[in-house]
Amino acid sequence: MKLEPETVEISVTGKPVQAKAGETIIHALWTAGMGDAIKTGCVGGGCGACTVTIRFKDGKPGGTDLACLRPVEEGMEVFPCPVESIPAVAPSLEPDVASLQAAFPTLNRCTKCGSCTTACPMTIPVMDSVLRMQEGRFDEVSDDFTTCIHCGLCRFVCEDKVKPHNMGLWVRRSQGLSRDNPSLDQSSLTESGDELEKEWSYLFTGDPKERLRRAKYFREHGRAGA
Ligand code: SF4
Ligand code: SF4
Ligand code: FES
Repeated sequence: MKLEPETVEISVTGKPVQAKAGETIIHALWTAGMGDAIKTGCVGGGCGACTVTIRFKDGKPGGTDLACLRPVEEGMEVFPCPVESIPAVAPSLEPDVASLQAAFPTLNRCTKCGSCTTACPMTIPVMDSVLRMQEGRFDEVSDDFTTCIHCGLCRFVCEDKVKPHNMGLWVRRSQGLSRDNPSLDQSSLTESGDELEKEWSYLFTGDPKERLRRAKYFREHGRAGA
């Protein structure tokens, strides 16, 4: 006997939506004909387009997340919150605390509330990294933001408008201007012939299950992997 999948009810900006247990918020919206309710890009946790805030009436903790990775849950209330981009700031050939502060006068506004770290779907220690920026520990900052997908949620939740990921990107770009910077050296990551072939074949087929599996691995381990 074929069992019907369990159904859960969520709401999206106040509108009730019936969804299959285990599917992601984005898939539930597509099935309900509400694809336009949310911005969508890669559907694999890589582009940061599908940002949402989530809450539960029963007091269960909600927060922010990516709709393409977050499975639906009974009673979940979803509010799409696209984070608008802001103009990029030109990187510096010789980045230091003074040039970062000049590029982002918000650097020292951080009140150490921790909201940015809690909001980050990639589990980047955003607040700690802002403190490292203030101390000029830029190699560590570049490492911190290696897995940043620029969803902007850390900026969205920051009451003090510190712009953490924009500063992190500025640090990475500025360090990248120096070609011999060891923390950004990608040469050791060159794939062997077989692995390269596998990657091309994955990119061309675009298997959605494989995409989700890879995104979850990246999210959990902070790096690409099998
Ligand atoms: S949310 Fe803003 S103020 Fe709070 S820790 Fe992060 S950068 Fe600092
Ligand atoms: S650091 Fe900010 S922009 Fe980057 S993934 Fe985390 S929340 Fe998104
Ligand atoms: S659609 Fe790209 S991260 Fe969700």
